[in-house]
Amino acid sequence: MSGRLVCAVLMIVALPTIWSAASAQTPKAPDTLEARVRACTPCHGVQGEGTDNDYFPRLAGKPAGYLTNQLIAFRDGRRRYAPMNYLLEYQNDDYLQKIAAYFSALRPPPQQPSVTEASPAVLARGKTLITHGDQMHGVPACSGCHGPKLTGMEPGIPGLVGLHASYISAQLGEFRYGTRTAPSPDCMQLVAASLTEGDVAAVAAYLASQPVPADPSPVARGTLAMPLACGSEPH
Ligand code: HEC
Ligand code: HEC
Repeated sequence: MSGRLVCAVLMIVALPTIWSAASAQTPKAPDTLEARVRACTPCHGVQGEGTDNDYFPRLAGKPAGYLTNQLIAFRDGRRRYAPMNYLLEYQNDDYLQKIAAYFSALRPPPQQPSVTEASPAVLARGKTLITHGDQMHGVPACSGCHGPKLTGMEPGIPGLVGLHASYISAQLGEFRYGTRTAPSPDCMQLVAASLTEGDVAAVAAYLASQPVPADPSPVARGTLAMPLACGSEPH
């Protein structure tokens, strides 16, 4: 027998033993949805409530359709945040829908809103814009689409509760400058373009200072007579 053949035979005899020893030591983790979302919870919270980091957004209770749209946008690079783009690369739509449904259904216990340093005048301006808009400057009331309790509307409009001020103002800036886009007609692009820098700071400070309502569920599809049409809302 040549040396090479002996070697090959030894390999064939030894391999199954090495193989089973290795698999006994490292049992394969079950590939459940709960196991997979562990990659998300350091930033978004165990129950999708967000984290103390002053930027990472809450996901819990947002409509599943909205969350799916965002996951697809990150996967396809239309919305950019490197860790999210990397984690979602190559994931299929079906899987993204399942993750979205998982976070949408979570109802974490209520949390304290962050303490705001904004002045009463700034908070009052924020509240007016959210509940009434500013007709003189073409700003529609945010609650006309995001709901009277700002918990969003099925299937495409997110709740604005439980978010950090820096996250809200960053998203408004991205809509305004077109680095975050939604299917046409892109209503949030129009809304964001109608706001001044001061308005953005006011709505962000007001929203972040509000407690999350006891029931953060979005209102049903078609409940609100929206002031503008939105492409992210199927007609
Ligand atoms: C390293 C922190 C981090 C990790 C890990 C992470 N995310 Fe995110 N996620 C973010 C940040 C920051 C944003 C906001 C990015 C931006 O500025 O648009 C975001 C945005 C989102 C949004 C859009 C939220 C909204 O309201 O529009 C969804 C949905 C989301 N993440 C889901 C996930 C899922 C699912 C995972 C796990 C597979 C995950 N994220 C992992 C930090 C993270
Ligand atoms: C005509 C309906 C409409 C009005 C009015 C409206 N929004 Fe929106 N908003 C939407 C839709 C639809 C989305 C989701 C867009 C997408 O799919 O990315 C959205 C998304 C957002 C987001 C992103 C949330 C997240 O979790 O990333 C913020 C912040 C926001 N809106 C703030 C506001 C503010 C502040 C106002 C009022 C000044 C306002 N919106 C008025 C329809 C509306």
